[in-house]
Amino acid sequence: MDDEFLENPKADYTPWRPDHANYPDGKGALYDQVRKAPLRDYGTDRQTLTAMYHSREFADLEWQRLWKTTWLIVGHVNDVPRENCFMKVDLGKESFLIVRGEGEELRGMYNVCQHRGTRLVTQDFGSTRKFVCPFHQWEFANDGRLTQVAKQETFRKAALCHDLDLPKIRVESWRGWIFINLDLEAAPLLDWIPEDFRSLFDAYDLEKMVRVVDKTQEWDINWKAAVEAFIEGYHVEAVHPQLNPYFDSYHNQHDLYDNGFARSIFPFMIPMPTRKAYARTELSEEAKLFMREAGLGEDEFPATDSEARAKVLEGKRRNQGRIGMDYSRFTDEQLVDDWNVGIFPCCSWNLHPEGLLVQRWWPHAKDPGKMVYYYQVYAMPGMKEMPTYMGVPPGFDTSGRKVLARFSCEKGDLEPLGSVLSQDAVFLPRLQQGIESDGFRGAVYSEQEVRLRQMQDEIFKKLKIDPASWRPKD
Ligand code: FES
Ligand SMILES: [Fe+2]
Repeated sequence: MDDEFLENPKADYTPWRPDHANYPDGKGALYDQVRKAPLRDYGTDRQTLTAMYHSREFADLEWQRLWKTTWLIVGHVNDVPRENCFMKVDLGKESFLIVRGEGEELRGMYNVCQHRGTRLVTQDFGSTRKFVCPFHQWEFANDGRLTQVAKQETFRKAALCHDLDLPKIRVESWRGWIFINLDLEAAPLLDWIPEDFRSLFDAYDLEKMVRVVDKTQEWDINWKAAVEAFIEGYHVEAVHPQLNPYFDSYHNQHDLYDNGFARSIFPFMIPMPTRKAYARTELSEEAKLFMREAGLGEDEFPATDSEARAKVLEGKRRNQGRIGMDYSRFTDEQLVDDWNVGIFPCCSWNLHPEGLLVQRWWPHAKDPGKMVYYYQVYAMPGMKEMPTYMGVPPGFDTSGRKVLARFSCEKGDLEPLGSVLSQDAVFLPRLQQGIESDGFRGAVYSEQEVRLRQMQDEIFKKLKIDPASWRPKD
């Protein structure tokens, strides 16, 4: 490392910022100048609480003080489109049912029979007026009330005088997206999602989106280490080299908001600085993919990657009707770039006018070194094509008439994940193994990884611990 750099590392804090010299308009402006959030300084400390990625005690504390008290995004009202529709939400050792009532009403309850504790429902989505327990056939209305006890006369009256309805959880929605909270006393959802964060979505029809892809898989990594690999672009050049011709993971804008919410903008159709020379001489296969996606014919393709961004923009706007889209209220950056939104603690959205890629990295029921990954795509109704990288199969249905089933991928099966995610899925267990080593003394972060510090800071606040001194016994 260069000596001058190390001599006085704490001198003037000049945060890394994308200078955007690479940006084709040459303005050197930020990608979303209007809504650029003020800079936050999370310091330079080494993160020595490495046990947070594998300790059982830490995971238990997390369960009590994070998962049980925080608003968690779990789906969209269109996942329960009509009265009596329900969805099952598994979280760690728990399972819940979200039921659509009359109109906009959403109810949340534990998925646990109050007779002897059987999980009532194993199906991810469905529609029913009542839940019947498969063990002794007790019946609960879909608002959670116990309505029938089989062979009731065999119980003494007093035995059935206890509260035997399904325990409730809180459910609220914001612009069509459903959040749950296990804390019945929690402040309302909208007190939790910051207003400046919410304003990022003004141009998008979040309420209308329909689920068109839904996959899940177990990964051998702690949920936080997995989230962290998806909120920085620093690893992209090495782990996903096929993206380098059209994805500038170096010049990116990170905006941090209260309560752990964040947004990053990663430019598409701009090569990595290290690829710039090639970009002036060739048109990569990857760029051609984006041309086709923008409805351009081969005869309209430019000669080099450096002209690709302008061409894609032109094609998208000209051909918008072809895929059933109206781009008039979106900026150029919103059309081509990847706007990566972080919904604390463990959900990210890749935001596009056509729809969203939703990813969640959820805690495992028993093992802090494992997690459950959810990959979902939500499309705008009437959309005929989605951004290719999302892997939406042709002929997808946005009518909302049929509720899509969730596909559970076999552990280790990379095929359903596509090339980029496979690279992450293969790589992450290797990260977990290293993190658990006594030889790992804790992470240091670049300013490209500032969202990791922000997320951890929020978690430590929730857990009420000081990461420099708190240590678990295991
Ligand atoms: S455990 Fe559900 S009816 Fe017995
Ligand atoms: Fe990655």
